[in-house]
Amino acid sequence: MEITKICCIGAGYVGGPTMAVIAQKCPNIKVTVVDLNEQRIKDWNDPNTDNIPIYEPGLSEIVAEARGRNLFFSTEVEKAIDEAQVIFISVNTPTKTYGKGKGMAADLKYIELCARQIAKVAKQNKIVVEKSTLPVRTAEAIKSILDNTGNGVQFQILSNPEFLAEGTAVTDLLNPDRILIGGDTTTEGQEAINALVNVYANWVEKDKILTTNVWSSELSKLTANAFLAQRISSINAMSELCEKTGADVSEVAKAIGMDSRIGAKFLKASVGFGGSCFQKDILNLVYIAKSYGLNEVADYWEQVIIMNDHQKRRFSNKIVQTLYNTVADKKITFLGWAFKKDTNDTRESAAIYVADDLINEQAKISVYDPKVQRHKMLSDLDYLETRTKEENSNALTIFENPYESCKGAHAIAVLTEWDEFITYDWQKIYDSMRKPAFLFDGRNILNAKELEKIGFIYKGIGS
Ligand code: UDX
Ligand code: UDX
Repeated sequence: MEITKICCIGAGYVGGPTMAVIAQKCPNIKVTVVDLNEQRIKDWNDPNTDNIPIYEPGLSEIVAEARGRNLFFSTEVEKAIDEAQVIFISVNTPTKTYGKGKGMAADLKYIELCARQIAKVAKQNKIVVEKSTLPVRTAEAIKSILDNTGNGVQFQILSNPEFLAEGTAVTDLLNPDRILIGGDTTTEGQEAINALVNVYANWVEKDKILTTNVWSSELSKLTANAFLAQRISSINAMSELCEKTGADVSEVAKAIGMDSRIGAKFLKASVGFGGSCFQKDILNLVYIAKSYGLNEVADYWEQVIIMNDHQKRRFSNKIVQTLYNTVADKKITFLGWAFKKDTNDTRESAAIYVADDLINEQAKISVYDPKVQRHKMLSDLDYLETRTKEENSNALTIFENPYESCKGAHAIAVLTEWDEFITYDWQKIYDSMRKPAFLFDGRNILNAKELEKIGFIYKGIGS
């Protein structure tokens, strides 16, 4: 079967960039991205592609090229499902906030809604692709819903997890380490796999396209994220020991990273990992392990999260201790709010938790982030439900100019590793601050020696 029409449900950080790249690389395939959120679709259709809702380097250009040619953003979900031969499900799967598995299990209500909607609309055989990260064996539930509520047409379910990282989504999509496609071992399943392989083969070498059974594919995505997050928690655990012993975690990371068996990536000590995936996926893995009665397996992976929470709290504690055990009414400036550089995404960003701790100590927080909008920062804090909206908006002041944000501050805390922070006129910033001027570098991106020469009291992570 040759695929000529694709639909993707969910125009988020994964669905949007992934479909834009498929459309760019496969001009003969009509790609329609749908979303329930009307504003989001309106933003994707903004005549000026610099205003699309997701910031990713290089994305605006690709959307400008393909949009209106073979890439469409729409709220007409049913029409798009009806037309397409392949439907990607790319809706969010947040951690459950209620009922059984609260705080751990993935909430699959949106996935189920999508499956029911596809079943209702489909009048021809379709391939349904799981793009969202899902617990192992979710395809079984999707298949059961499709087969039992559908119009008698045949569905093939594939798992095709997305490994892109935010901030580098476009290059990750253009040059993936691998594409993973899981499907049924039946003839029909293999045909569906091949149809999707041929889409990716338009720009990805065949030997990088890996095909497996559905369960392996589903579990591989959770496994990849768990292993990556585990490395960060491991190096962060070492960062605390470094601070006690006079070792320097960057030197330790470099020394062990040169061992090719360990490798250099994901060894940057930090204030803690954030993002939509790591925490959610590990909690989900822990929940799955528990549900099979594998308590030691669950405890083992849960420790990665415990270490990450500890690292965030340790950072805020260090700020309070260093500022003579009180930050009440002191101005502390955050440089960065996003969970990493080159994205406007703030989900699970360490900045939120550090701000929450410091506001509990009655600090006044000022924030500058080059891409994150004001309302997002406030809603991140409101979401924690630690205090009222009014209290949050009194405690948090947001600036559009980094120098203004640092003026009169007792301390600066770097929460995101934006490149532009390195280029600032730090002498000018120092001059405008209260003395002693403290600088807490939660990302180890600034030059400690130069800053100390200016007069800053500099504290990085793990040294
Ligand atoms: C999501 C999942 O959270 C993640 O597990 C997976 O790996 C990739 O997809 P992301 O794209 O970052 O991640 O989520 P988000 O930016 O929230 O986008 C999801 C979109 O789906 C939202 O725009 C939401 O409005 C839309 N949606 C959700 C629907 O269109 N229909 C629904 O029923 C639910
Ligand atoms: C991650 C995975 O990398 C990606 O493959 C998967 O599909 C989705 O989840 P993402 O969350 O976009 O991607 O970002 P990533 O670059 O992995 O960073 C996650 C967090 O870890 C960020 O807060 C980052 O700053 C932090 N991090 C990363 C470190 O603290 N140290 C490191 O060495 C690397």
